[in-house]
Amino acid sequence: MSLTLPKDICKPHLIFKNNNQEQVMKKTRILTGITTTGTPHLGNYAGAIKPAIEASKNLENKSFYFLADLHALIKNKNPKEVHQSSLEVAATWLALGLDTENAYFYRQSDIPEISELTWILSCLTAKGLMNRAHAYKASVAENIEQKAKDPDKGITMGLFSYPILMAADILIFKADLVPVGKDQIQHLEMARDIGMRFNHLYEELFTLPQALTDENAAVLKGLDGRKMSKSYGNTIPLFDTEKKLKKMINKITTNSQPPEEPKDTKDCTLFEIYSAFADKNQIEEIKKRYSEGIGWGEMKLTLFELLNDQLKEPRKQYEYLIKNPSIVEETLIKGGLKAREEAIPMLKKIKKAVGLRALG
Ligand code: TRP
Repeated sequence: MSLTLPKDICKPHLIFKNNNQEQVMKKTRILTGITTTGTPHLGNYAGAIKPAIEASKNLENKSFYFLADLHALIKNKNPKEVHQSSLEVAATWLALGLDTENAYFYRQSDIPEISELTWILSCLTAKGLMNRAHAYKASVAENIEQKAKDPDKGITMGLFSYPILMAADILIFKADLVPVGKDQIQHLEMARDIGMRFNHLYEELFTLPQALTDENAAVLKGLDGRKMSKSYGNTIPLFDTEKKLKKMINKITTNSQPPEEPKDTKDCTLFEIYSAFADKNQIEEIKKRYSEGIGWGEMKLTLFELLNDQLKEPRKQYEYLIKNPSIVEETLIKGGLKAREEAIPMLKKIKKAVGLRALG
């Protein structure tokens, strides 16, 4: 599986080197944030992590992947969980082979320029724009439904201005493409709106980003057949022990067809998860087995073996990193310093453009 870039943007822009007029390619900047509020699961891997790691190997891209730990504070007020999730998410990406030489891999809270930019952007973002954000509107709608006295009950300023922090994440690194799930498309439109407003009011400093939603990205179903999601409590963690992985797979809901009966692959959770991890031949083979009437027990074992085969090595690496968090820390600090080499001069330009500069 790979990220398919929109046609107009996958052509790298041509620029010229000053000295010898040699043509060089300007790399496409791909940026995405991972909110650190839980333990990565199979759905995260198939839908986001795997395609992102693959995209980072393409040397025509410059990838920025970061732990959105400031965003995590909006949802989670438990310091231990926020901290633990940062470690687990970072260890997961590293264990799965993210090349941190090619990609910028950092923690949002290590880049103070992002927070500073958030304030500057807040001062030019219309409140009305934020009123229209889906996440905020959904919370208000829920309050109204529950007949709360105040429709803003329990809603923090963090939740309300979430899209502005996200715009700062994106704009400060001049990202061209932002791979996100469909639920984030509106936030990308807001980032463009905010960037455009800045460019219009002050100076053309920002690149307007495009959302990149991958139609081919797998959306996995969870244990109960609904979309695999932490909020449904139906996830299969990526790096649980082998034994637990087997147990989880055995819990996946199936219908009650007996073993010898031919089965339909359509809407079958086991088949869908299998397909997200298998190659073409394996998928064809398993389709044949369905039509011949593979038993659910056997299919569960087949799925377990496929997943375990692919996860065995990264799992070892993951366990090692979780036991040695200082290795992860060091990597993130290095990534943060590299990212700040870009963020610091960019913020300087931004501050100058809005009138925040030395007096002398
Ligand atoms: N809001 C994103 C999510 O919940 C995470 C995120 C934060 C993000 N900042 C970002 C994604 C910037 C892309 C770009 O999935």
